Amino acid sequence: MSDSQQNPQEETSNQKPPADSGPELRDHVFDGIQEYDNKLPNWWLWTFYIMVVFYVIYWMMYYQGGGFKSNEVKVEMGMERIAQIKAAAIEDSLGVVDNVKLWELSRDEKFVNDGKVQFMQTCSACHGDDLTAMRAGIKLPGVPLDDNAWLYGGQPEDVMKIIVDGSPDKKSGMQAWGPVIGEDKIIRVVAFLMSHHEEGAPVEIITKD
Ligand code: HEC
Repeated sequence: MSDSQQNPQEETSNQKPPADSGPELRDHVFDGIQEYDNKLPNWWLWTFYIMVVFYVIYWMMYYQGGGFKSNEVKVEMGMERIAQIKAAAIEDSLGVVDNVKLWELSRDEKFVNDGKVQFMQTCSACHGDDLTAMRAGIKLPGVPLDDNAWLYGGQPEDVMKIIVDGSPDKKSGMQAWGPVIGEDKIIRVVAFLMSHHEEGAPVEIITKD
């Protein structure tokens, strides 16, 4: 330190790097241009290493572990959630099942589909897969449920009552399904049956002969 104060000129010349420690030139020459053989800067190297590590972790979590969801999956989950909320809202309002509600449910795809499954299991043996009470040209024990002619009324509430309580005709009629499958499932079956009918269409009450 004391030297440099005395002779700044000399100090400057001393700072020149020794000849052998400078950046090396690489052997090749292109158009008279030569390259230094510099080491890559540390910031560059570290960015590169971190990216490599990040990619390996990302790849494992995203593509292997399912830790993250793709956009499609997220959209699907969102739609599912909306459907659940809608279904829950309908479920909540089932306390009051009247004609208005039941007609509404007859236009709800999910209720109709659930009801169809139940109908095919429990009812189609007598009422037919297509509600005509016929199978392969043979008359089944039940009555048709696809026409406007009803024994006990054709409004959804009438239909529901007969399913829950069974036919008043204890001899040739139909048993009560309320205790067997429960009201919740019957509501769905009614939705399915009413999906074959039109709200406000004229209803004909028939009597058994
Ligand atoms: C064992 C045969 C049988 C099964 C199974 C059966 N039904 Fe019936 N169902 C009948 C018969 C028979 C009648 C006619 C009742 C009468 O004459 O009083 C009837 C009547 C009805 C009626 C009244 C139709 C009208 O014209 O008013 C409805 C609605 C009905 N069934 C729905 C159902 C549903 C829904 C199921 C399934 C949960 C079901 N039935 C299962 C035999 C059956």
